[in-house]
Amino acid sequence: SDEELHERIVAAKRTLGDRAVILGHFYQRDEVIQHADFVGDSFQLANAALTRPDAEAIVFCGVHFMAETADILSTDEQAVILPNLAAGCSMADMADIDSVQECWEQLEEIYGTEPDAEGRVPVIPVTYMNSSAALKAFCGEHGGIVCTSSNAATVLEWAFERGQRVLFFPDQHLGRNTAKAMGVPLENMPLWNPRKDLGGNSEQTLEDARVILWQGFCSVHKRFTVAQIEQARIDHPGVTVIVHPECPMEVVDAADSAGSTDHIRKAVAAAAEPTTFAIGTEINMVNRLAAEYPQHTIFCLDPVICPCSTMYRIHPAYLAWVLEELVEGRVVNRIVVDQDVQVGARVALDRMLAARP
Ligand code: 13P
Ligand code: SF4
Repeated sequence: SDEELHERIVAAKRTLGDRAVILGHFYQRDEVIQHADFVGDSFQLANAALTRPDAEAIVFCGVHFMAETADILSTDEQAVILPNLAAGCSMADMADIDSVQECWEQLEEIYGTEPDAEGRVPVIPVTYMNSSAALKAFCGEHGGIVCTSSNAATVLEWAFERGQRVLFFPDQHLGRNTAKAMGVPLENMPLWNPRKDLGGNSEQTLEDARVILWQGFCSVHKRFTVAQIEQARIDHPGVTVIVHPECPMEVVDAADSAGSTDHIRKAVAAAAEPTTFAIGTEINMVNRLAAEYPQHTIFCLDPVICPCSTMYRIHPAYLAWVLEELVEGRVVNRIVVDQDVQVGARVALDRMLAARP
């Protein structure tokens, strides 16, 4: 039963004490998040992984790319555990290393490899945190960097100082929304499409490109629409609409603000007067905010429940299992990033951590 699982997790945690630290992303279900030692967005959880070098195990209640990042940032002795190995991210799967490598070679043919008069290289690769460790390593090895939704503008500025243009992957929406807010015209943000026979990029669009966008997206956030925002404004005059920047550009433009999961949480926490919020992000987080701030009216923009199905794969039964195995001295579901990949990925992650304003 749910109570039994709860008690088992509490008991295993008590026995483990400081030997294990549990990290939980905002999108995790309540039955999991209540056991987390740190709760945060993907940037905060990457930092949290750095703060507990004493813990033998980091149990990551989130998705695969987050656990990989924790493994890269933690010490070699620490074990990073993903309670359910099937908890991936469909967006991260949309960019694989072979396709990115192929794209890069084509870009090198088009732009060459020589810096301009100001020393800026032709292209800087920028990967969203929601990507495999191999892509982070690719960025580390090619002068590039990682970003999250909370620091994408700072990271793009870093990249524009060093490059004439940016290749941004996998999320086209975060790339477009961030660059647009920085004043990059839409016509200078082509989607990368190598298939000339299917209307691929012309020399002209690539010539003028400032940001070349990969065609990835989040299946949860692409569900939000301008029509939903219009409906919310009709049904709730004065409503404040906040969305995640993985939403399509039109949705971000129609909202009152956009930002990472932590930005959304802070915006709700900062409201002094009772306020109505329509929120465009994952349902577990929206429902938790509604419960935590009963003085406000908080609802999800999408009337159809939209959980992130892969985040949801971290069931409390998996958490109980991995913790009880740890109590017995066994490490299960360990995420191990190859040493050579770790080195390059760490370079790109360190650039991000240093670029923080
Ligand atoms: P945050 O960086 O805002 O936590 O977002 C992570 C994510 O996967 C959103 O879909
Ligand atoms: Fe990936 Fe979207 Fe789920 Fe975030 S919400 S983990 S981007 S599928």
